[in-house]
Amino acid sequence: MSDLYCVFGNPIAHSRSPAIHAAFAALTAQDLVYEARLAPVDGFPQAVSEFVAAGGKGANVTVPFKEEAYRLATRLSDRAARAGAVNTLAFNGSEIFGDNTDGAGLVRDITQNLDFPLAGKRILLLGAGGASRGVIAPLLAEKPASLFIANRSADKAVALAQAFADVALLGAGNFAEIDGKCFDLVINATSASLSGESLPLPAGIFAPGSLAYDMMYGKGETPFLTLARVQGAATRADGLGMLVEQAAEAFFVWRGVRPTTEEVLADLRAKLAA
Ligand code: ATR
Repeated sequence: MSDLYCVFGNPIAHSRSPAIHAAFAALTAQDLVYEARLAPVDGFPQAVSEFVAAGGKGANVTVPFKEEAYRLATRLSDRAARAGAVNTLAFNGSEIFGDNTDGAGLVRDITQNLDFPLAGKRILLLGAGGASRGVIAPLLAEKPASLFIANRSADKAVALAQAFADVALLGAGNFAEIDGKCFDLVINATSASLSGESLPLPAGIFAPGSLAYDMMYGKGETPFLTLARVQGAATRADGLGMLVEQAAEAFFVWRGVRPTTEEVLADLRAKLAA
């Protein structure tokens, strides 16, 4: 019988994860089945128990359950502990291992797929929610020159910077506080794109040769990437590559095999444009 995996979320019907993991399994000749499972908003632990009882070996976790998955895990990877959230679970007997592959996925997409090394770069991270928290440690591990967290409410940015004070001294403030500053990489980790909203970013923040990266993706250009184009960011990328790379990293956690991602990403890109 094939090994069983799934992604939990609510909503989950439009998740691309089953198609991505089916493609990885085919590429690596791994015998597994991966399905999407809708968990009730107030019934995540129960949904996980039922899945494990049915023989589930591992699961991805998406909105709104990443913090709950973090609390449910009986053992955490260092990167999940830092992120305060879990997007990958592995079940082994009574153990629930929690990992977080989002930051690794982002870094891999930027450094490998986009060929943009992060060492020595000035990074601006927009947003101070869970999505931001999850990627800070993996970004810092690449040894950027600096990392500034800007958020609509400055206090959340300052608190997030504080949480990483033992790793590095991070700048933090609201959007007005980046006026006059210049960055090589600007990452949108806010959920503003979800509601089609643009961010009130001051002009002149994109350095020559800079990369604008939106962790969101959708059909067409996101509002953040439109703004980045108008403000002169040299390269712009949405989060589709991050989606595929975090999946590849989760696949590696479960199977010990790293799938190639180029084909899967190109395929998804074509489907998204159709
Ligand atoms: P996630 O887990 O996706 O990070 P979250 O924890 O709710 O979700 O955080 C959402 C982030 O997007 C926050 O940084 C939020 O800013 P506030 O902390 O000021 O609320 C940011 N955000 C959402 N909508 C926004 C908008 N229209 N303009 C600017 N920032 C926005």
